[in-house]
Amino acid sequence: MIVEPNAPLQPHNTFGIVARARSMVRVQGVADVQAVLAHPDLGAGPKFVLGGGSNIVLTGDVKATVLKVEIMGRQVLEDGPRSTLVEAGAGENWHDFVTWTLEQGLPGLENLALIPGTVGAAPVQNIGAYGVELQDSFESLDAVDLNTGRVFSLDATQCAFGYRDSVFKHSAARDSDLGLAGRALILRVRLRLRKPWKPLLGYLDLQRKVAETGVTDPSARQVYDWVCAIRSAKLPDPRVIGNAGSFFKNPTVTPEQCQDIIARDPGIVHYPMPDGSVKLAAGWLIDACGWKGKSVGKAGVYEKQALVLVNRGGATGGEVVTLARAIQTSVYERFGIRLEPEPVVV
Ligand code: EPU
Repeated sequence: MIVEPNAPLQPHNTFGIVARARSMVRVQGVADVQAVLAHPDLGAGPKFVLGGGSNIVLTGDVKATVLKVEIMGRQVLEDGPRSTLVEAGAGENWHDFVTWTLEQGLPGLENLALIPGTVGAAPVQNIGAYGVELQDSFESLDAVDLNTGRVFSLDATQCAFGYRDSVFKHSAARDSDLGLAGRALILRVRLRLRKPWKPLLGYLDLQRKVAETGVTDPSARQVYDWVCAIRSAKLPDPRVIGNAGSFFKNPTVTPEQCQDIIARDPGIVHYPMPDGSVKLAAGWLIDACGWKGKSVGKAGVYEKQALVLVNRGGATGGEVVTLARAIQTSVYERFGIRLEPEPVVV
C-alpha cells in the first residue's frame, strides 16, 4: 500500500475543481483497504471513498483519507438460456464496461451508455437513463466494511434502491440500521442480463430516433449509438467542460400540486408515475426561472440543459454550491418546490 500525501484531486473529479487530499491510497483490492485499517495513523481516522469523482462537489481539501478505487476486471460468470451473469471490478469505467458487454454479444445495458463514473459508483446512485435503471439488471455486489475490514455481499433488496438512491446514500441513525453511507467500499458488482433481449425505446428521445431513421427494430448496438448521440448533443463532455451530470433530482409532487402549477404554467413538463405521484422535469423548472447560461463566478448553468451545472474554468466548489442554492431559492419561490441535489458536497 502506498500513501500519497497532499495528493491533487483535480484529475479525479469530473467538475475539475482544484483540491487536495491530505492522504490518498489507491485501492486495487481488499488487501489495500485492510492495510489502511491496520495503519497506525490512518486506521482509525475518517475515510472517503472516491470512484470516478463524477458525483461530487469538492468545497475544499479533503482531510479524510481518500480511498481511490482502482479495482479492475470484467468477466462473464454464468451464461444460461435465460440470462447471463457478468461481473466487473468497482474501478472499471462504467461506459467502457457497457461497451465491453455489447462486444461480448450481451445486450441490456445500452440505454445506460456514456454515463460518467465507475462501476462501483453505479449502485450507490442507482444510475439511470432513457427508461432503464441499474436496479433492473442488478444481481449483487461485494463490499468491504470500513470499520471492520470484513467483506460482505448485498443483493438488490438489501441495496434498497430508489430513484438515484440506495442504502449507500443513507447514514445509520443507530448501529442496527442498514444505512451504509461512509461505511462501505464496493469491490465488485454483478449484473444479470436477461434473454431474450428487447430494445427499450419508450423514452421520448429514443422514439424520436425511431421516427427520424425509420428503424423500428434496432439492434442493441443501434440503441447504444442513439443514446451516445442524444447524450453528446445535450450533456457536456466532462473532459471538455467540468460537470457532474444532472445537478438536481427530478422532484415528485402530488397530482393536486401539479394541477396547481399547470394552472399557472401550462407548459410544465410532467410525467405521471405508477404510484400516482407526478414527476416534474427539474431542468424545465430551472429553465423557466431563467437560469440557463447564467453564472456565479466561474460556476454556470449549461446553455443546452439547465439541469447541469458546469465549471467554466477555475470554479471553486463554493461557487458551485452558491449557484445551486440560488437556483433552489428561485425554484422554491416560483413553484414552491424544493430541489434536491444529486451530487455529494464534500
Ligand atoms: N427541459 C427544459 N429545459 C432544460 C432542460 C430540460 O425545458 O434546460 C425539459 C426538456 O425539454 C424535457 C424535460 O425537461 O422535456 C426533461 O429533460 P431531459 O429529457 O433532458 O431529461 P432530464 O429529466 O433532464 C433525466 C436524468 C438524466 C438522464 C435523462 C435521460 C435526472 C435528474 N436526470 O434528465 O440523468 O440521462 O433523464 O433519461 O433524473 C444524471 O442523473 O446525471 C443524468 C444525466
